[in-house]
Amino acid sequence: MSGFLKNKKILLGVCGSIAAYKAVFLTRLLVKEGAEVKVIMTPSATDFIQPLTFSTLSKNDCLVTYTKAEGNQWNNHVELALWADVMLIAPATVGTISKIVNAHCDNLLIGTYLSARCPVFIAPAMDEDMYHHPANQSNLQKVLDFGHQIIPVEEGELASGLFGKGRMAEPEAIVDFLQKYFTPQSTLLNGKKVVITAGPTYEHIDPVRFIGNHSSGKMGVALAEALAERGADVVLILGPSNLKTNHSNIQVVSVVSADEMYSEVQKHEYNLDIAIFAAAVADYRPVHSEDHKIKKLDDNMTIQLKKNVDIAASFGSNKKANQISVGFALETRNEEEYAKEKLRKKNFDIVVLNSLSEEGAGFKHDTNKIKIIDKNFQITSYAMKSKKEVAVDIVQAIENLLK
Ligand code: CTP
Repeated sequence: MSGFLKNKKILLGVCGSIAAYKAVFLTRLLVKEGAEVKVIMTPSATDFIQPLTFSTLSKNDCLVTYTKAEGNQWNNHVELALWADVMLIAPATVGTISKIVNAHCDNLLIGTYLSARCPVFIAPAMDEDMYHHPANQSNLQKVLDFGHQIIPVEEGELASGLFGKGRMAEPEAIVDFLQKYFTPQSTLLNGKKVVITAGPTYEHIDPVRFIGNHSSGKMGVALAEALAERGADVVLILGPSNLKTNHSNIQVVSVVSADEMYSEVQKHEYNLDIAIFAAAVADYRPVHSEDHKIKKLDDNMTIQLKKNVDIAASFGSNKKANQISVGFALETRNEEEYAKEKLRKKNFDIVVLNSLSEEGAGFKHDTNKIKIIDKNFQITSYAMKSKKEVAVDIVQAIENLLK
């Protein structure tokens, strides 16, 4: 996910379908993405879920009727409709879709929909035969003709016990659909080939032990996703990590050691546009990796280590004029001085400095606080943000280099 739903005002319409329970998870996900959510339910949706569930999760009143409970105040559907940046009807039943098409205004949801000027997204939910019925298909076509977006139904087991098409898209898929809609189409990164190293490397001591570090790979994966969403073709060379990403523009290559990571980078180094070195590569590896488990013998033990190849420095020394190299520096002291030294030595175009002394920044956290240093040693400092938002800041700095 890319952070493009942050601060978006989303009006969620929930209709009477068993899929209404998924709208609860959807609300949670949207709020987690930083969106402001207001929920309107049709009266029949309240047979499935209580408005209290939505008002608690969205931290806004969940509305069902034109008048407030006290009966002497109006829920202004025009105001609500104009407030929204997006109207999302999920689940949308056959009945509500038909009312949309015919302007059949018999509840607050339809009244608000008819007053909305914002983009409208509809996530249908129904049984297979209802979905395929020509009357419903013709209504769905009309909805598209109105310029609305339909979030495709999924195939699977239906509440009726039948198996087929008609299930509402999963909440994650709906959020993904909205994210894609709001992603600015950057022409700068479109089609650019990007190679990213990420995660730790493990250097084997024997079959059961290794030298490694606490890197999770989160920053590298967030960067890969932010770039892929802007149309870049990304090769993510990922050290041992539990993280998964399944964006169609990202090819994940799993590696274990620094040597393996280096060989994978070498395969692409001559035809890449942007190289990002986000991996926490082990600086040393054992001179010998034992074939059998080392037995406990003496009180003291020494493992002889030798230096690993510096992947970023090797790329930097052969870098072509039209290639961009982005490095990371993780320091605990003399941060800016050490980061500038790395920028110069490894021929980076920019270096992203993380400080381990900041609470919430660095390894394993979902947040990060960075400074970006450019070739002229200009330093830009950023606030503590989620790694997804930090990725967007880094991508913008890369776009500035491409301009
Ligand atoms: N790097 C790399 N290959 C290595 C070591 C580091 O590609 N063998 C890259 C990292 O991915 C990062 C940058 O170089 O982008 C700086 O890494 P860091 O570990 O901070 O620096 P080192 O050069 O290893 O220096 P030190 O550990 O002494 O701070």
